[in-house]
Amino acid sequence: MHVVGRAEIRISSNSTPRRYNPFMPSPLTRRFTLQDLRAARQSAGRVAMLTCYDFTTAQLMQRAGVPSLLVGDSAASVILGHESTLPVSLDFMIELTAAVRRGAPLALLIGDMPFGSYQGSVGQGVNNVCRMVKLSGCDGVKLEVAEGHLKLVRRLADAGVAIVAHLGLRPQAVGLLGGYRYQGRTADEAMRIVTLAQRMEKAGAAALLLEAVPAVVAKAVVDRTTLPVIGCGAGKHCHGSVVVTPDLLGWTARKPRFVPDLGDPGRPIDEIFGEYVRRINEKLYPADEHDYEMPSDQQADFAARLKG
Ligand code: KIV
Repeated sequence: MHVVGRAEIRISSNSTPRRYNPFMPSPLTRRFTLQDLRAARQSAGRVAMLTCYDFTTAQLMQRAGVPSLLVGDSAASVILGHESTLPVSLDFMIELTAAVRRGAPLALLIGDMPFGSYQGSVGQGVNNVCRMVKLSGCDGVKLEVAEGHLKLVRRLADAGVAIVAHLGLRPQAVGLLGGYRYQGRTADEAMRIVTLAQRMEKAGAAALLLEAVPAVVAKAVVDRTTLPVIGCGAGKHCHGSVVVTPDLLGWTARKPRFVPDLGDPGRPIDEIFGEYVRRINEKLYPADEHDYEMPSDQQADFAARLKG
């Protein structure tokens, strides 16, 4: 029996020792912090992150040794059944993030700011991010960023908030992007991502998250910034990797190509989480087969522009 606060949940019986199983995860034993994420960058280590939306799964993830959790606004789709992430409210995201905090007090916990909660003005963004931090107990907050958010990131960094700047495919901008297409396919697009990443670092972002970009673009960001970079379909050069957990578990209708195939979906869930952590720690995932392509002429142009 595991006891956390006033809630109790039976997640396994300790009385029957399991036979040795190399895929059995080891639980987190101390708090994983932003400093640990930075250290991973310094030591060329890799950090596993999963999305999480509830107390019970958060307990399982902490027990499986998942060091960092993102309460993504993908909750709009995988929890509420919406077609996009746009409809989810800030109050709902705060409630979920607080539940995950209660379930995984040791994990590095990132809350996600939903569409409409920070786009109105710097003041609105600062107030809403502070609400998220105060009410949920998260360690940092993720924002899908464009040039127009530099001032907000600077203000939040001045206030001491750890901001994860999300670049590349930004699902909240699906209207503008015209669909969920991977980003950084052309040298122009790739250069815009690299430049914005550098500006976000200068503005005070604590980490970067790159979603659905070719590995060469992620590598350029890694090489030209000093921040930890978490990839979500961004290849093997990033310092951490995140996927949407229901995709990992094979519960969603269409799994993105970069989500690892961990074999038998009938496996115990904590084993699947543990195996995900192991593959990232041992640099087995992401592999080249998970990469998005950049056409070779664009790659040559991108390489030339990076040099020039
Ligand atoms: O909302 C989310 O789950 C995300 C991840 C896909 C990175 O932003």
